[in-house]
Amino acid sequence: MIDFKQEIAKKVAKATNLEENELKNYIEIPKDNTNGDYAFPCFRLAKELRKAPPVIANEIKEKIEIDEKIIEKVEIAGGYLNFYISKELMTKEVLSEIADNENYGKSKIGEGKNIVIDYSAPNIAKPFHIGHLRSTVIGGALYKIYKYLGYNVIGVNHLGDYGTQFGKLIEGYKLWGDEYDIEKDPINELTKIYIRINQACKEDEKVLEACRNNFKKLEDGDKYCVELWEKFRKLSLQEFQRVYDLLGSEFDSWNGEAFYSDKMPEVIDILEKSGKLVESQGAKIIDLEEEGINTPCIIEKSNGSTTYATRDLAAIMYRARTYDFDKALYVTSYEQVLHFKQVFTVAKLLGLDEKYTNGLKHIPFGMVLLKTGKMSTREGNIIKLEELLNESISRAKEIIEQKNPSLENKEEVAKKVGIGAVIFNDLSNSRVKDEIFDWNTILNFQGETGPYIQYTYVRTKSVLEKVDKMPEYEEIDLKKLSDEYSQNIIKLLYNFEDTLIQVTGKEEPSILSRYLIELAKAFSSFYNENKIITEEKEVQNARVYLTYAVGQVLKKGANLLGIEMPNKM
Ligand code: ARG
Repeated sequence: MIDFKQEIAKKVAKATNLEENELKNYIEIPKDNTNGDYAFPCFRLAKELRKAPPVIANEIKEKIEIDEKIIEKVEIAGGYLNFYISKELMTKEVLSEIADNENYGKSKIGEGKNIVIDYSAPNIAKPFHIGHLRSTVIGGALYKIYKYLGYNVIGVNHLGDYGTQFGKLIEGYKLWGDEYDIEKDPINELTKIYIRINQACKEDEKVLEACRNNFKKLEDGDKYCVELWEKFRKLSLQEFQRVYDLLGSEFDSWNGEAFYSDKMPEVIDILEKSGKLVESQGAKIIDLEEEGINTPCIIEKSNGSTTYATRDLAAIMYRARTYDFDKALYVTSYEQVLHFKQVFTVAKLLGLDEKYTNGLKHIPFGMVLLKTGKMSTREGNIIKLEELLNESISRAKEIIEQKNPSLENKEEVAKKVGIGAVIFNDLSNSRVKDEIFDWNTILNFQGETGPYIQYTYVRTKSVLEKVDKMPEYEEIDLKKLSDEYSQNIIKLLYNFEDTLIQVTGKEEPSILSRYLIELAKAFSSFYNENKIITEEKEVQNARVYLTYAVGQVLKKGANLLGIEMPNKM
């Protein structure tokens, strides 16, 4: 497709003698259609050219050569230059591209770049709760979108499978293992053991000692301890996998914290040599006061054990060497902002190339706030993700049962709708915002929801079913799509790839969710205002084709968020 931003930048560059690609970055897409398709903000040049923005706008406009086949007109509005692209050309560009490309919007801009995304990362033997949902869903969307843009993406599930709690679990299992059926209901049963052993530790110093010993033995590779640890890990993963199957999550690496157990001595050694590692109350720490961080980073606790931070430092070294990453993203809740600040600052002492330390990026997200009441389970406030997803599916099923009782494959559709609703809800607002979880909102077919996007897609499908023969792109008279409603859609479709690029620029999948809502709304207006199936064959063909294009992009976009589309609902 023609890159219209580039075309505009070229013209402005010619008129100003400034650098084309820099100018391109300044170009905006106006919110209001009456301001054209693209706007160039002249105040960005005011400093450099030492002139007032409206004067600059005038001068550029005078000098620009317009080729009407591409740019219909240029207008000045305040300090902006507004560009109006030829409607027919844009329509042609979009529809011809969709006609011969199954993967509309796919690009190669990421070629040769490696992106590590660290996401999901639940803790072994602990419930996979709603807090992990956001990480899994946000990370999963970024994973798919980066891939689609041509990046080499490595999805890492940095499991919490290490720490003194495993010494406790081993001890508990040793004492009472046969009282619990951990094969049948692993996480619940392990949680019970954990609570019980903690109590025992409080009552008896000797038990605590035994637990510490177990952990030490585990680290030293003791057969019994390692085998048990492996068993807990395996059983927990089987349970987590049920959630991943529901969500369609993918990972390329399952290296959790334990994987770094033999890689930490190197980190400690390097830090020691840097002279920055100091003793404080028996622990080894790095003071970060000079870097403006008030809390020091603890590398080794006073009892000699390593920390979550040390393992993250070892993971940075490993990932730099193994994946040669350009960016390494960490998707966790904002509760870990300080942790990553510390770790990323200390990472600068590891002697890695700056490329790596500059590429480290924490992607924090807000909390999920529950409307108390119905959703809480026996364990109190912890909502298990699997229960939540299954509840969403059964609620979706109820709605389908009411709205469309004769629908085929109700189970399958309910699954797509129920899961899609939860995923979309998680991605619909900017990620740092806290999210309120409310069933009525997320499953509303008319709201700004996943089911609304799916419903709109299904509508495009049913329009296509009404025609005997799908028109070929070559048969379309593009002029039949010059009305406002069609043009709104064309413009959105044109901006699909740009939207995906924006997502990766800000690591913000909600940019795509908002886009899909806009597109669905634009289609609803088009559908309500324009007769698609009509006597006039030429009009019908053009509109049917546009409907098909909308369906393609809605589906592609939703899939990139991790949402599947039903054909009927
Ligand atoms: N297991 C951690 C938790 O549940 C998240 C790990 C995030 N990734 C990392 N490299 N620290 O909070």
